[in-house]
Amino acid sequence: MSTTTTPAARQVQPAEHAHAAELAFLAAYDDGPRPPGWRLTPRAVVTFIVGSGGVALELPRSARRDDLPRTLTVTAKFVGERALVERCVVTLAGERGLLLVGEPGTAKSMLSELLSAAICGSSELVVQGTAGTTEDQLRYGWNYALLLAHGPSAAALVPSPILSAMRTGAVARVEEITRCLPEVQDALVSILSDRRIAVPELSGTADATVPAAPGFTLIATANLRDRGVSEMSAALKRRFNFETVGPIGDLAQEIALVQRQARATLERVHAPFAVDDAVLEALVTAFRDLRAGQSVEGWEVERPSTVMSTAEAVAVASSLALAAAYFPGDRDVVSLLPGHLLGVVRKDDPADGAKLLGYWDGAVRRRAEDGARLWRRLWELRDVLTD
Ligand SMILES: Nc1ncnc2c1ncn2[C@@H]1O[C@H](COP(=O)(O)OP(=O)(O)OP(=O)(O)O)[C@@H](O)[C@H]1O
Ligand SMILES: [Mg+2]
Repeated sequence: MSTTTTPAARQVQPAEHAHAAELAFLAAYDDGPRPPGWRLTPRAVVTFIVGSGGVALELPRSARRDDLPRTLTVTAKFVGERALVERCVVTLAGERGLLLVGEPGTAKSMLSELLSAAICGSSELVVQGTAGTTEDQLRYGWNYALLLAHGPSAAALVPSPILSAMRTGAVARVEEITRCLPEVQDALVSILSDRRIAVPELSGTADATVPAAPGFTLIATANLRDRGVSEMSAALKRRFNFETVGPIGDLAQEIALVQRQARATLERVHAPFAVDDAVLEALVTAFRDLRAGQSVEGWEVERPSTVMSTAEAVAVASSLALAAAYFPGDRDVVSLLPGHLLGVVRKDDPADGAKLLGYWDGAVRRRAEDGARLWRRLWELRDVLTD
């Protein structure tokens, strides 16, 4: 019987399953030195995340195997500066904590998932930070039935994902760390400096401390719109390298990403993707103009207080594509765009609908007057925003 398990159908595959073929290829492709506990070399981790730039990588003759293709073009997953990804990888190779900070929807979680999948083969050792997160969730808890029946023992201990990562030398992730209370966050200080967790209930036994195996490290993410990183204790801040993840700089790259991700959403539900490139371009342009407070032409735009993230743009593009797939011929997709934009713009402040109207009366009208057909159509749809 085969020992490999086929992952069951899931709405979302973890990165290590979704990209298993690329990870296996890269492990064979680059057999250079790896930090302790790493499955890939630091360079291969970076290639996995930012892609091979459209170039097909060829396995060296000595590394060829029947279960691997001879050549493979590694897809770009995170769109952004290669230097940023390199810095993240170097931080982790030094077994330091990595804190990814940025506005919502800038792919911080995605980057942390890709890094952990590439480095240790698992992105699933994760704690989701909330206002209700307790120290137990970062350290360990107990199976109370066993605890009451037999007293404290290694068998009754319920490890947190972080403790599991320490045992196996893996990468643990803490999502939205700044949403945890500062005193709870501080449980990580001793984990990151002493590299062990003490279990006083088991003192006197071999299980009284759990040391971290080589390779253990931590990636945390923090959203700048939540309670800020400024409230983190100085002791904890010092144990992390901070990296700021920003929005995608290049229009064409952002359009391509939005299209790729929206297509993937439609593929998951087996529906055809039928949204014109021009519509996607208008959608992404509007997002970028509103995000930046300035149109591509340099005209001033009033910024809504919500972030207008790429993640939201992907969600709108997917909705347009789903509408086109499930209600074909009912309406043209363009006519749905202003309503979706309004929904996003109003998320933080309902009064921001007026700012979108201002964008219509400014940039959209001027583009329409310049004769661009799609923008003319969008200008005609202005009424949608005034209801
Ligand atoms: N630079 C980028 N590269 C690739 N995908 C991106 C990028 N920016 C945004 N995305 C898209 O945004 C989605 C959401 O990203 P993710 O949830 O990782 O963001 P986040 O920064 O963790 O947001 P939040 O702060 O709200 O948790 C990704 O799955 C992807 O579709
Ligand atoms: Mg996130």
